Amino acid sequence: MGEIGITIKPTLSCNMRCKHCFNGKKLNKSKTISVERVILLLQKASEEYNTIKITFHGGEPTLAGINFYRKIFDFQRQKNEESGTIFRNFFTTNGLLLNEEFIDLLIQNKTLINVSYDGPYNHVLRQYGDRVLKNIKLIQAKHGKLRCYCTLSKESYAQLPEIYEWFKAQGIDFKTLPIEKCGYAKEDDSLIMKPKDLVDVFVSVYKNWIYDKDCKIRYYTFEEFSALRREMQFKSYWFNRKIALNPDGNIYPFGRPNDVNFCLGTPETIEKIEDCFRSEKYTKLRGILRGFYDTKCQSCESLGVCNGVAICMTYMYEEDEEILNYSCNQTNMVFQGILKVNDEIIRDFKNNNNIDYYTDIVRERFSEYIGRR
Ligand SMILES: C[S@@+](CC[C@H](N)C(=O)[O-])C[C@H]1O[C@@H](n2cnc3c(N)ncnc32)[C@H](O)[C@@H]1O
Repeated sequence: MGEIGITIKPTLSCNMRCKHCFNGKKLNKSKTISVERVILLLQKASEEYNTIKITFHGGEPTLAGINFYRKIFDFQRQKNEESGTIFRNFFTTNGLLLNEEFIDLLIQNKTLINVSYDGPYNHVLRQYGDRVLKNIKLIQAKHGKLRCYCTLSKESYAQLPEIYEWFKAQGIDFKTLPIEKCGYAKEDDSLIMKPKDLVDVFVSVYKNWIYDKDCKIRYYTFEEFSALRREMQFKSYWFNRKIALNPDGNIYPFGRPNDVNFCLGTPETIEKIEDCFRSEKYTKLRGILRGFYDTKCQSCESLGVCNGVAICMTYMYEEDEEILNYSCNQTNMVFQGILKVNDEIIRDFKNNNNIDYYTDIVRERFSEYIGRR
């Protein structure tokens, strides 16, 4: 078999109290999962799949301590030598507990380190910004694979031009995550911007980015925007076959990581990971999502480009109908705003107009339209 995505949440404890956290009250002083259970799951996965994509998440994954990861990376090395299994590691962290040793270990194991940091507006949602920035700089100095996850909230979204320039000036790749109404953010309306306002800012900064030849960093969100096409689904799937391992040792579909109704077993009880995808509970979850897809998505103007991905992503943490509608509506508006800009780019490329003004990445993405009628 090909690839499997596994999210590992070693703990649901956290050493920060971000105002918007989608884990909300689910964050607790939970124990850390034993490394043996993680390795058992990876062992089973390596018997079925050639490539295993692991995202360490939480809670705060650094709280598991460096030795936890040393053992996991040792196992990966051994498996790779024995059977050629490829492991790709992603580590999503608030960055507070990273130090030289930890960073070196992640770099040695070619991990993409996602540090949650909101640039000049970090203080709006998070604490300890100075210490985190110091660690970000350390990763940079060591040439680690680094990406910042920058959350946009009501107090910061309008500053996106400044945020973009800040990441550019620092030479840090980043991705913007518009705040989702879930967890703590669901209870605090002061954090939530209006979808229309967010779209206006996105469109205006995107229109700058497509020509910005001074931009030497990766702005992942806009790279994804530049791949949006009216007639093409933006992800290769509508519901991703992925699993998540929680600190309590239970395996969940990635699409519903904390819901006992969808618990698929434990590393000890499952025989094969493929069995999880054939199980009754997994089928039930797919059925619920399929129901949303049939009732909500069919009349949506972004059906061609989204094809249900937005509702699956939101259902991951929320089943409140109003919030599902809110989130889908926001995604639809973003898609439509960006697709209009992409239509203009396509028109330019078809007519061989102004092509040299665009950046390399845009030229590469749209080159297939050159001279096309
Ligand atoms: C929940 S944290 C967990 C991992 C780790 N503790 C960290 O801070 O990166 C992962 C990411 O989700 C983002 N996030 C949390 N709640 C969110 C929300 N309501 N809307 C959008 N992003 C959110 C955080 O800002 C962070 O970048």
